[in-house]
Amino acid sequence: MPESMPQDACELLDADHIAVKHLFVEYARQAMAAPEEARDRQALAQRICQELTVHAQIEEEIFYPALREAIAAPQLLDEAQAEHQQAKALIARIRGMRAPDPRMDDLVSQLANAVEHHVKEERDVLFPKARVAPGLDLMALGAQLKERQDELVGQAA
Ligand SMILES: [Fe+2]
Ligand SMILES: [Fe+2]
Repeated sequence: MPESMPQDACELLDADHIAVKHLFVEYARQAMAAPEEARDRQALAQRICQELTVHAQIEEEIFYPALREAIAAPQLLDEAQAEHQQAKALIARIRGMRAPDPRMDDLVSQLANAVEHHVKEERDVLFPKARVAPGLDLMALGAQLKERQDELVGQAA
């Protein structure tokens, strides 16, 4: 996606979902091809954690609060938030590891499964509700998400 092309909030968030899915697939490929070379996968694991952390943060700061206002489904957002907490607990454990650690592959695989489930809920349930919510400006929200994402990525660099 070119830098200049504006995306609505759901498109922007789903582009992140797809990007991180590719990283998980690459991680699994490397783990399969050379199980003993855990050190080589450490940087990839850290990148996955970093991208997911920024993604969760922009959802929590901008997207979820806007949805709480716009759709009458607080329990869905509570669930999504709880799933973020579970993912963050796994991320904290992975980030705390010194490579090579034999538990890393298992934790990354648990994280991949948790994220896959969570993303499915966002795609199948939350995004469709967001798209029909009256008064929710998804383009404006997309711009806000992008701005915050750029800021957080800049801070991490
Ligand atoms: Fe999420
Ligand atoms: Fe998401």
